[in-house]
Amino acid sequence: MTETRTVSPASRLTGEMIIPGDKSISHRSIMLGALARGDSIVHGFLEGEDCLSTFQAFRAMGIEAERVPDGQIKIHGRGLDGLSEPDDVLDCGNSGTTMRLMTGLLAGQKFFSVLTGDRYLRRRPMKRVVQPLGHMGTRIWGRGGGDLAPLAIQGCQLQPIEYRSPIASAQVKSAILLAGLYAEGKTTVYEPHTSRDHSERMLSYFGAEVQPEKEGVSIIGRPRLEGREVFVPGDISSAAFFLVAALITPGSELLIRNVGINPTRAGILDILRMMGGQIELIDAREQSGEPVADLLVRHSVLKGVEIGGELVPRAIDEFPVVSVAACFAEGQTVIRDARELRVKETDRIAAMTTELNKLGGQVEALDDGMVIDGAGGLKTGETHSHGDHRIAMSLAIAALGAAGPVRIEDTECTATSFPNFWELLDRVTA
Ligand code: S3P
Repeated sequence: MTETRTVSPASRLTGEMIIPGDKSISHRSIMLGALARGDSIVHGFLEGEDCLSTFQAFRAMGIEAERVPDGQIKIHGRGLDGLSEPDDVLDCGNSGTTMRLMTGLLAGQKFFSVLTGDRYLRRRPMKRVVQPLGHMGTRIWGRGGGDLAPLAIQGCQLQPIEYRSPIASAQVKSAILLAGLYAEGKTTVYEPHTSRDHSERMLSYFGAEVQPEKEGVSIIGRPRLEGREVFVPGDISSAAFFLVAALITPGSELLIRNVGINPTRAGILDILRMMGGQIELIDAREQSGEPVADLLVRHSVLKGVEIGGELVPRAIDEFPVVSVAACFAEGQTVIRDARELRVKETDRIAAMTTELNKLGGQVEALDDGMVIDGAGGLKTGETHSHGDHRIAMSLAIAALGAAGPVRIEDTECTATSFPNFWELLDRVTA
């Protein structure tokens, strides 16, 4: 039995909130904590299912790590060569980040390992990492000619490469940089637009030599990584749901504390401001090498915009909720250059088009984006999450602005990235 929820329209959102830790940074904190020498302490680790998959995978490779009662994680790092061969398949659950980054990391080990995941992850393309890692010398087998998990990885001594990625993907870039830790010399990745740079920042923070390149980044192999204390900021991708909720709901004023505003991630702030959204950054500061601020958002009259190009990778996970904002904006919103949305946890272009149209939305799917005619608002209806956490939460936000209650089927997937989403939604709409 899947969980179903009904969300009613909200009158306004007010108060203050703290959003759980950033998913991308939480994954990387476990990985680098494990590969460093000595202990690392992670504050604000996201206890969502995706990051717990990474946590369990490292435990299965002999890393001692504890969840300390007040929400911290302590990792006893064993150095670059400290992982041991897992005696079973590593289960990445729903997490593409776990599978793709770990494939890079496992490519340079002296052992054999197998990665699998849930039915959604086993449908997602892996050739994008398998192929460049093959150029570095490793052998990886998978279904669909090596494109689909389960993936079997025979680690080996890697060669450094210069790789030009055809897509702007932080998972591809990070897989190669993590493999590059194990190659003698300099490994370089170029990408068509800059994707999120959390790996680069955290690798530097732990002591690796990371060099910016024109349209890319390099890492020097075999660094000595030292255990560090990491403060994980709130996840801007999770904050995005509440930003849009407050923007579309008259009378709202919401303060979201301690949110990561790394420019390679904060495209959603640019998009919502282009749409006319009032979002103020308060007390911008830096935490463990990542920029952070409090966000004050007020209800605003939104207008349709055109989104494409370099903005797309900087807001890649936010398009489901951007499409909701667009339904409440005056005029047309056009999203282009976002073909990657088709290979996320689900095909997010198809899923949002279908579900918003069930609520009376005027949404047309494009091959690489969507066209949304706004201001007609949304009506009551029955929807489905497609098993995708961000689709479920986007539909909940759509419901806040709809003319009547919206039923959302299959909502337990929100635990993937935002375990207390429903609780926080109840609190700020009360
Ligand atoms: C992530 C990168 C993005 C993003 C995902 C997390 C990461 O994926 O969609 O949720 O942590 O590196 P791609 O690299 O496939 O764009």
